[in-house]
Amino acid sequence: MNELVSTGSPAQRYIRQAEEFGAHNYHPLNVVVSEGFGAWVTDVDGKRYLDCLAAYSAVNFGHGHPVLVDAAKAQLDRITLTSRAFHNDMLGPFMEGLARLCGKDMVLPMNTGAEAVESAIKVARAWGYRVKGVEHDRAKIVVMDGNFHGRTTTIISFSSDPDARADFGPYTPGFVSVPYGDAAALESALAEENGGRDVVAVLLEPIQGEAGVIVPPADYLPAVRRLTKERGILFIADEIQSGLGRTGATFQCDNAGVIPDLYLLGKALGGGIVPVSAVVGDADILGVLKPGEHGSTFGGNPLGAAIGLAVVGLLETGDYQRRAAELGEHLLGRLGELIGHGVVEVRGAGLWAGIDIDPALATGREVCEALAERGVLAKDTHGSTIRLAPPIVVEREELDWAVEQLVAVLEKFAVPQ
Ligand SMILES: Cc1ncc(COP(=O)(O)O)c(C=O)c1O
Repeated sequence: MNELVSTGSPAQRYIRQAEEFGAHNYHPLNVVVSEGFGAWVTDVDGKRYLDCLAAYSAVNFGHGHPVLVDAAKAQLDRITLTSRAFHNDMLGPFMEGLARLCGKDMVLPMNTGAEAVESAIKVARAWGYRVKGVEHDRAKIVVMDGNFHGRTTTIISFSSDPDARADFGPYTPGFVSVPYGDAAALESALAEENGGRDVVAVLLEPIQGEAGVIVPPADYLPAVRRLTKERGILFIADEIQSGLGRTGATFQCDNAGVIPDLYLLGKALGGGIVPVSAVVGDADILGVLKPGEHGSTFGGNPLGAAIGLAVVGLLETGDYQRRAAELGEHLLGRLGELIGHGVVEVRGAGLWAGIDIDPALATGREVCEALAERGVLAKDTHGSTIRLAPPIVVEREELDWAVEQLVAVLEKFAVPQ
């Protein structure tokens, strides 16, 4: 370790070390977390923070949930990885449980969210050529402006965020982007693409998370379902961030009263312990894959499957969905009172809120830094928006306390410096 890295407080040293030896693809807040339990984390200096990000909803069930940790520990003592060259005794139970939870026939297990998205793109294309009868290499997938589906080369090819995309071309072709939440725009885009005949799928987030928790109009997802069904197009719902309890239902699609053809799941599916993702759908779609066409060394590993099965068990109780709905209503109500007092707009569903801070007051980053000082961890996005997505195990009083900290921060910025 060089001199610069070895001097200063422990927190400063960890930060400098990460800066010096890590690629600078993130810009974290200056908080060095060393422990977490439930909705709270502790930094290396012993300061506690209410975690209002929950690792972008990967920690929906809280840090160190005893049921999930026990499942992981028990599996660690048995076997962690077999590869898919052999069967293992956790994958079948996990996939059956997850398929049942989703009301679908089968599961394609992967690891990260981006892999689930990539997998669904391949499945949709293969389905287009083999089932729908699209001419070879002409398949189109309609995506949404402002989307966020991950960071791989194909996925950033259809991103509208210059930071995510600019210097990473050449791009994968075959995607058409339309305004989010606008069913008429989708309908005309489908008409332009050979009457929808070359379109194999519409891929969207039921709520756009990274874009700032953008909730589409209530009739939008039903319209997408109708338009895709009429034209023989797959509806792929990326529920990687919105799914698994966050929005007060198992899926945000449930809240909208629609059933997509494919669910994409990740983040909380691994209980915040290991990466577990999945594409879930019926056999007439997922069944197009044949041995050798797709896979992953770690996808379907017994450790991830054991944890994923325990996650399914937690969701089957319905307790987390109910809790997110009740607490979320309370949180969104409290945040709504801040409109006109440093807050311009609040959006959300369940225990998930996007808060637009008055840009005349402060940037989202500045608000998050000030919140961290007061013991609340949150994350900004797109300039003046901050997101709150605490673990669903959070208590109502803790949410009230977090809102009080936000009020104090906004008041501080409102006073001319
Ligand atoms: C909706 C959505 N899809 C996909 C991803 C990518 O997941 P991962 O970071 O695990 O690759 C994310 C991550 O934030 C996401 O929010």
